[in-house]
Amino acid sequence: MNKAPVIAIDGPSGSGKGSVARLVAEELGFALLDSGALYRVLGIAVLRHGVDLEDHAAVAELARTLDVEFGKSGEDSVALEGEDVTLAIRTDAGSDMASRVGGIPAARTALLERQLAFRQPPGLVADGRDMGTVVFPDAEVKIFLTAAVEERAKRRYKQLIGKGIGAILPDLLRDLKERDERDSLRAISPLKPAEDATVLDTTDLDLAAVVARVLELVTAQLPTLDT
Ligand code: C5P
Repeated sequence: MNKAPVIAIDGPSGSGKGSVARLVAEELGFALLDSGALYRVLGIAVLRHGVDLEDHAAVAELARTLDVEFGKSGEDSVALEGEDVTLAIRTDAGSDMASRVGGIPAARTALLERQLAFRQPPGLVADGRDMGTVVFPDAEVKIFLTAAVEERAKRRYKQLIGKGIGAILPDLLRDLKERDERDSLRAISPLKPAEDATVLDTTDLDLAAVVARVLELVTAQLPTLDT
């Protein structure tokens, strides 16, 4: 069994977990798993292949055979069947489809093995919704990031505008609330902190402060690592 250490960072969209996970992974020299990107790519693949979302077996089959490659044309790039979908997966449609395929149990099972394969020495930082509860329940460090929904909508707005993607703040706020509700209430892998996770509210913290706090927790809980 592969016992490379895992730092699980879970939380809702806009909690900052993506940026925090990337910086923490860089600092530690660990690999990074952006599990949300996998759900997003699957969502886009469902659209492109014209698969019916109600046909769970077909969605799961697509998940099993999904040809996805990370980092092909740049650090945070994602390719689907050889085509760069880095921007496409971040659109509203990409977010919405990710949340929809994420509610299909067979699709989650199909993506599980792929996620486990990221656990390689010297270690992994995994970001998502169920990293600490379902995918890596034995993670050495578990962190759950939260922030007020209005603050999360503002962050997402800035992120999208920064990437040159058009966005409307009230629409983003409404979509985030809807997605939070769907992610939190679903029967399988709902968005909730693991019992042994440290919950960090980032509403009033900037990125550097959150990263510093996470590295403190890592040093305390993984004393063999010299950060
Ligand atoms: O983290 P991100 O916002 O990219 O995730 C997009 C969507 O993918 C989430 O709203 C959620 O529905 C789904 N997801 C999930 N499980 C994960 C990561 C993401 O269900 N581990």
